Amino acid sequence: MSDDLTDAPFTTIFEPFRIHSVEPLTMTTRAQRREHLRDAGYNLFQLRAQHVLIDLLTDSGTGAMSRDQWAAIQHGDESYAGSPSFYIFADAVRELFPFEHVIPVHQGRAAEKILFSALGGAGKVVPNNTHFDTTRANVESTGAEALDLVIREGRDATSDHPFKGNMDVDALEALLAERAADVPCVMMTITNNSGGGQPVSLANLRSVREVCDRYGKPLFLDACRFAENAWFIREREAGQGDRDVADIVREVAGLADGMTMSAKKDPMGNIGGWLALNDDDLAQECRTMLILTEGFPTYGGLAGRDLEALAQGLEEVVQHDYLRYRIRSTAYLGEALQERGVPVLTPIGGHAVYIDARALAPHLSPLEYPGQAVAVALYELGGIRSCEIGTVMFGRQPDGTEVPASMELVRLAIPRRTYTQSHIDYVIEVCERLAAAAPSLPGYRISAEPPVLRHFTARFEPLT
Ligand code: F0G
Repeated sequence: MSDDLTDAPFTTIFEPFRIHSVEPLTMTTRAQRREHLRDAGYNLFQLRAQHVLIDLLTDSGTGAMSRDQWAAIQHGDESYAGSPSFYIFADAVRELFPFEHVIPVHQGRAAEKILFSALGGAGKVVPNNTHFDTTRANVESTGAEALDLVIREGRDATSDHPFKGNMDVDALEALLAERAADVPCVMMTITNNSGGGQPVSLANLRSVREVCDRYGKPLFLDACRFAENAWFIREREAGQGDRDVADIVREVAGLADGMTMSAKKDPMGNIGGWLALNDDDLAQECRTMLILTEGFPTYGGLAGRDLEALAQGLEEVVQHDYLRYRIRSTAYLGEALQERGVPVLTPIGGHAVYIDARALAPHLSPLEYPGQAVAVALYELGGIRSCEIGTVMFGRQPDGTEVPASMELVRLAIPRRTYTQSHIDYVIEVCERLAAAAPSLPGYRISAEPPVLRHFTARFEPLT
């Protein structure tokens, strides 16, 4: 053996798995995609998925399950009450989030609906770093106000603050000083999806906890991407670099009184979620609501086999090799776009890269929906489906007026363990071509929309 061989670590970061089962991708022509766009009213949610080549609409429920998750599915027990699959699931949840009560639901918004049915109501106000759209809708549908109190840097697409998901603790304190009686709970979304998949630091969570304690308010986590958040804490926060991610997750959980969860994200499920909390009375009220809307408390809208797949997914998502690959491969896409002059929100988030459509298409005003224009063009050019997170999603106010969102983003969300680096290289190439065409992109107008959550079903027309 040559003396040149060393034990220096290799720097290539690769998918820490090999492929076990494959799904075909369908190619379409640009002419076909133009027709599909017209049929869909230029709303990418209305496309048929088989007309999409690379689907970056969401990382929710779209990941690939592992061999061991599929094996766990075979172990599922479908007893109506007291299934062993429930106890396997609840133990796996409590291993990371040691709350007293674990209540399964079919997905995250069901947990939100149940929690805010109990805690919301007219005159109440719920602070969050940034509410996800379904969380906001579930708060507002009870008559309560959903207030976003993310730090100033979290609203600035170019700030490189390492924890842009942090709560503005002074603003939270000011709210509680003025209206404590109206605040039923404080929420923290980790990572902050609507603000760019940005993490929240342990220090910030501790400060929020301290404010909650002073005012006697429960703190709930919207913890969809808890493992990605913990990885960022490990990488970026002083003194955390040697810790096990599972340990960081337990510390984060220990700062809260409960959580809502979409298990379609970090728990690697195609469906599922839970509500977990410590308060016995609130848990009882929530279980009663669960029985009305989801199912019996040991399955809550899921099959036993789903519960088992989630238990296994929870073990896999906190593994360091997985998280290193996950966060690095998202950054790979973001950095490549930056190098090619495509403006993206920085730092690069955990589950997605967010194109700054305002910077890419400055000729379009917010009410010409620059994010929608960029998202439609990405599909037309390369069959890539992304998601507008801007004025289309957030512009319509509860009082019916329309105001520009604080940022006009197009999210390229990366399904877990699903696409390889060559798929992502293709996405980079399409985005580069899009950037060249950006100055001539048309704006859009909305021709039909429902009163809430309009981005899912609205129809658009290009402004020519
Ligand atoms: N909270 C956050 C932060 C989310 O990102 C989501 C879903 C939910 C709650 C609701 O969970 O879909 O299981 O009901 N986000 C998906 C997305 C839909 O594309 O970001 P759900």
